[in-house]
Amino acid sequence: MNNDIKEVLYSKEQIAEVTKKLGKQITKDFEGKNPLVVCVLKGAVMFTTDIIREIDTYLELDFMDVSSYGEGTESSGEVKIIKDLDTSVTGRDVLIVEDIIDTGRTLQRLVELFKHRNAKSVKICTLLDKPERRVEGVKPDYVGFEVPNEFVVGYGLDFAGRYRNLGYVGILKPEVYEG
Ligand code: PRP
Ligand code: MN
Ligand code: MG
Repeated sequence: MNNDIKEVLYSKEQIAEVTKKLGKQITKDFEGKNPLVVCVLKGAVMFTTDIIREIDTYLELDFMDVSSYGEGTESSGEVKIIKDLDTSVTGRDVLIVEDIIDTGRTLQRLVELFKHRNAKSVKICTLLDKPERRVEGVKPDYVGFEVPNEFVVGYGLDFAGRYRNLGYVGILKPEVYEG
């Protein structure tokens, strides 16, 4: 599996460091707010479980399963809700945790949905941001790294369901998805 990676972009250590830093900021900003942290499955699962342990406030955790990519390397443009939240967001300060913002469609959809359901506030924390690819005007509040326009995998990010279990974020060799 590691042979399919062209280059390591962010090591385990770099991810842990940035996660700690973001956790501190979030702790300050959400003190006393009892936020509802929403993990966007499946990609955000590693980042979510790591970052919530760096946040020193009361919080609640819930999961939403959303998918826009399917098997390909290109977003289909259609954001499907596969599993909704169990918790009501009405009156809550919501913090959405994502692995990556690419076109922004997934988050645009979620922010609209939570606002429609009368969340008190909706903030976004993403490990990776790829602003070059943005088609929606979504702006994250907390960003780990800005990534170049390359197909990245690992630490939750997949290609056709694979590579989520890499401990780091790396660039996939083009021959893997072209061949
Ligand atoms: C990926 C990624 C983000 C989204 C970003 O999820 O985890 O959720 O795409 O792309 P966008 O900004 O263009 O919407 P995907 O749909 O592949 O589902 P997964 O998390 O289950 O892999
Ligand atoms: Mn995702
Ligand atoms: Mg995916």
